[in-house]
Amino acid sequence: MGRLVIVSNRVTDPAKAAQAGGAAVAIADCLRERQGIWFGWSGQLSTDEDATPAIDVSDDGIVRWTIPLTKYEYENYYLGYANSVLWPVFHNRVDLAQFEAGYYAAYSKVNQRFAASLAAGLAEDDVIWVHDYHFIPLAHELRLLGVQNKIGFFLHIPFPPSQSFLTVPEHLQLARAFSAYDLVGLQATTDVANMIDYLEHGANGQMLPNGTMRVEGREFAIASFAVGIDTNFFKQGDLTDRNDYGATITRIIGVDRLDYTKGLPQKFRAFGRFLQINPDFRSRTVLTQIATPTRESVEAYSDIRKELETLSGSINGSYGDLEWVPIHYINQTTSRERLISVYRNAAVGLVTPLRDGMNLVAKEYVAAQNPRNPGVLILSRFAGAAEQLKAALIINPYNIDEIAGAIAVAVKMGLDERCLRHEALMQEIESGTAATWASGFLSALEHADHPPTFPPTGGKRLISAVSRLAQPARHQDPNSVIESSAPPLVCDVAASHRAFF
Ligand code: G6P
Repeated sequence: MGRLVIVSNRVTDPAKAAQAGGAAVAIADCLRERQGIWFGWSGQLSTDEDATPAIDVSDDGIVRWTIPLTKYEYENYYLGYANSVLWPVFHNRVDLAQFEAGYYAAYSKVNQRFAASLAAGLAEDDVIWVHDYHFIPLAHELRLLGVQNKIGFFLHIPFPPSQSFLTVPEHLQLARAFSAYDLVGLQATTDVANMIDYLEHGANGQMLPNGTMRVEGREFAIASFAVGIDTNFFKQGDLTDRNDYGATITRIIGVDRLDYTKGLPQKFRAFGRFLQINPDFRSRTVLTQIATPTRESVEAYSDIRKELETLSGSINGSYGDLEWVPIHYINQTTSRERLISVYRNAAVGLVTPLRDGMNLVAKEYVAAQNPRNPGVLILSRFAGAAEQLKAALIINPYNIDEIAGAIAVAVKMGLDERCLRHEALMQEIESGTAATWASGFLSALEHADHPPTFPPTGGKRLISAVSRLAQPARHQDPNSVIESSAPPLVCDVAASHRAFF
């Protein structure tokens, strides 16, 4: 296997990032092992539309190639198509999707520009692994430039039911884009079922006897690979009993990005309901909610922030007293190191997303517990993690009474049951870590062997030595490239659609 080239919108250095997610850490680990390259957005804005990649070899031994976005691209590709169309639709919030804003052109153009820049630096046996919804069309663009390397894609967020995906005006372009990969990895089996259903009934896809999917004459594999965590990291440190906040307080912890998909208003309301119906738990139970602000210039995110401020204020005003504030609501980033003791000192982990690809907080909370006196995980059935973490208290995040009931069960649960549940959860979490997720995906990609049937009319290979990176190919007219070498997708839009829920 040649070099590993990872592509993602965010290119981070977990050692320096204020808060690095589990997937970023797993990616960094596997790049370090294979001396690979991490390619993506620099996090900077620039007026230069043709900026060449900056090359950085950091202390961790990973080579990072990054390019800036223009302000227009940031607003239309990142905030626009990625986070105001794909993000809401993939999380089943079609009502929030801004289909009419015309963001797709910028999304497509950024993918072309990044593909041209990457293609100029690729070697023939490099294996390319593209991450997440920002770069769905990247392989298609690379194929148009003649790149025939193995290319895999992993979607960190859920794939929606067919009828939600069909609302995206460009769904057929996205279907064709998926087919340019050799392997498409999704978090959960529900996501795989949703994608296959959509491709078969919404994009004329055909499931072949060998289990691969054919779309527009190209065959590719679809499979689920549940992202895991570095369990050893969260097991570190002092295992003495919960003492940070004093034994008199029962702490419930929530750690989320401040996102409308995380079910935070439902969580606050459910905690209020729990206090209402369990007065004996007032003055001694606290919900600590760390909610890190994100994508703040998107209206839906400023709306949810305002809603949570109002809700926490109202619950604290109704139930709090001079000595006790029920909801400890923090809009800050917390380091991974600090999170270990925050998780360990909480009797309950409350994870309530309305929809989530996996939700690594659920796994981190469990891994950080003291096995001799573990806390209880309450988990939304709509998080990908619920497929694995069946020994959690599984709740419907839309049902406030059910969450309030689960909180009551959790804070009263005896040691024996807590230990049994924790042991079962740890078995699941340790059987699929961040490292096994990455190696499992890469091994499947290595073995994905489909005839190179793309581009149909033959394309010019632009692969060259890394030394050419300083002069990446200038991107061509996007429309002429697409029209000249790829046939339009034909789809019977009246085809029947099977609904999943
Ligand atoms: C989710 C996405 C990631 C994204 C992260 C942070 O986990 O799956 O791709 O990087 O959120 O969001 P941001 O918009 O700040 O990159």
